[in-house]
Amino acid sequence: MTRSTMPRLLPAPDGTSRPRLGYGADYNPEQWPREVWEEDVRLMREAGVNIVSLAIFSWARIQPSRDVWDFGWLDDAMDLLYAHGIAVDLATATASPPPWLTTAHPEILPVTANGETVWPGARQHWRPTSPVFREHALKLVTAMAERYADHPALVAWHISNELGCHNIYDYSDDAAAAFRDWLRARYGSLDGLNHAWGTAFWAQRYSGWDQILPPRLTTSYPNPTQQLDFKRFSSDALKEHLRAERDVLRRITPDVPITSNFLVTEGTGGMNYADWAGEVDFVSIDHYVEPGPQDRDELSFTANLTGGIAGGLPWFLMEHSTSAVNWQPVNLAKRTGDLARDSLLHVAHGADAVCFFQWRQSAAGAEKYHSAMVPHAGTDSAVFRAVTGLGRTLAALAPVAGAEREPAAAAVLFDWDSWWTSELDSHPTSLLRYRQEALDWYTALLDLGIRADVVTPDTDLDGYRMVVAPILHVVPQDLAKRLTRYAEAGGHLVTTYFSGVVDENDHVWLGGYPGALRDLLGIRIEEFAPLLAGAGVALDGGLTGTLWSDGITLTDPAAEVLAHYRSGDFAGLPAVTRRRTAAGSASYVSTRLGPAGLAGLLPRLLEPASVRSELPEAARGRVELAVRRSATDRYLFLVNRTDEPVPLAGLTGEVLTGDLGGGDGAADGRTLPPRGVTVLHAPGADTPA
Ligand code: GAL
Repeated sequence: MTRSTMPRLLPAPDGTSRPRLGYGADYNPEQWPREVWEEDVRLMREAGVNIVSLAIFSWARIQPSRDVWDFGWLDDAMDLLYAHGIAVDLATATASPPPWLTTAHPEILPVTANGETVWPGARQHWRPTSPVFREHALKLVTAMAERYADHPALVAWHISNELGCHNIYDYSDDAAAAFRDWLRARYGSLDGLNHAWGTAFWAQRYSGWDQILPPRLTTSYPNPTQQLDFKRFSSDALKEHLRAERDVLRRITPDVPITSNFLVTEGTGGMNYADWAGEVDFVSIDHYVEPGPQDRDELSFTANLTGGIAGGLPWFLMEHSTSAVNWQPVNLAKRTGDLARDSLLHVAHGADAVCFFQWRQSAAGAEKYHSAMVPHAGTDSAVFRAVTGLGRTLAALAPVAGAEREPAAAAVLFDWDSWWTSELDSHPTSLLRYRQEALDWYTALLDLGIRADVVTPDTDLDGYRMVVAPILHVVPQDLAKRLTRYAEAGGHLVTTYFSGVVDENDHVWLGGYPGALRDLLGIRIEEFAPLLAGAGVALDGGLTGTLWSDGITLTDPAAEVLAHYRSGDFAGLPAVTRRRTAAGSASYVSTRLGPAGLAGLLPRLLEPASVRSELPEAARGRVELAVRRSATDRYLFLVNRTDEPVPLAGLTGEVLTGDLGGGDGAADGRTLPPRGVTVLHAPGADTPA
């Protein structure tokens, strides 16, 4: 990722242009009569809104038929927003094709693995590889860019919307043709492809490119490397669309920064954002809380990973919800304090803007029960009061704008290839969940009060004293070398079950598991031993493993056992191991311990790495710490993970602003209210004493 270019907001109401945090929403004025717009901009000012995303789903309104364009309403909205000092992150409006286009060109509609057409009626019903869709979309992008190139409200471009949210996997003939081109570029020859896909198995050898298909509905398991390559291809196909729109924008408006809102969450794992991040001028994401025992840790994990793909530079929270969403089985309203805490947790991890879906709650359509900044109840509502409160808070946090993430001593490695591959079918267990395992380690670190960065494999790991790489399943030769160098040079690597097993083609590293990491870890495993759902295995120290176990033999004199199995087939044998390297170590955890078990084990893993909590004892586990820094200043974000007040004695720094949480506890900046947030401002390391 090159250095990001963030949008420059319009001057503040007091006329100053100093940096500040962005605050706003998706704004859909076309859903409302014109007189409502006047109230919108007045209320935006009242709430402290300074940026909105406009025209995201406006294609049918902007281009009502092939040769008719209607920009009048959008000109009006842009002018009105500008007149009120509100900047515009303008969408290219290509997210959802209009009915006239899908009627004239049904061949742009996606096709499922079963061969069913995905019909219009919702949104995002287009094939990423359709040349016809691309042509119409780029025509619209060109028209938008030419129209608004010089509009003073325009501060950023928003390409499409959540690319791949609904259309990541398309199995159409267009996709088949593009997949073949992609494979030709990757493998060069059919021999190369036949080798990579292991087609000697089940009579799958290809003798012509035209025989190759996406992994459509099959009798049994489709070829695993075909599945993996189709995932890679599908991510790349959407990335190509992103690039095509971006290139038009760069040609016409070279100075306007470009983004596209990413989805870095569990349910939307099809897009490899580590690979996409370098394509945009600044990273932005959408995040929605899915209630559960680790829901806020998941929020923190996702925000942290976003910082990772953004290279530690600031980014935008482009969408979030003020309260309930409309797409979960039961849509819970947020509790007092959640709106601010959830938003500020993103800022803690590098967000320079907090934006919501959407400004005004719709009265009609599929999202009318989704919360917004202005709810159905209007401004006399707890939501709108919380919204205006957050606006004041973000204004007070203006000095944070532009600050980068201060690297932690520990890191959790997150790898899309391992995610995709470890969860393929026909594996030792279908119960393994890659992202959940990574999240469990993250929760355990938070429970111990340890700050850790979530990073991707291309990150320079040298600065981290400890790197946890859960289920690092795909380990190409060069990654094995890098990790070995890291651990030999003094780093402390921790990895888990089902790691090191395959190369980039999903071919097993032979000679015993964990394959590519066998020598580094100093262990050998002959056979996998997954556990049935509900089964557990006891370990030393009262730990219980689930999901997986391994029969481990130590193969290196420098390898030691940190915990044994106490029950099951491997009772008395190693369950957790560590090999001392020249200057560091490499540890292996062979079963799933869950957050509590990992928190019990982690102190032993952290100790040789000298990774310690930066929090006072009373706050450890109850408070999350995230740090942003500029050349001269540090900003300590302290986020209460609990529903109880937490004392913060022992931390120094000027309270940038005290009770940001809106919780119901005491709020003096030295006690964190329930679910509250405090930001401390301290001089930076480079500041002269
Ligand atoms: C996002 C989408 C928004 C809105 C929101 C609701 O996926 O970009 O347009 O649908 O979800 O949570």
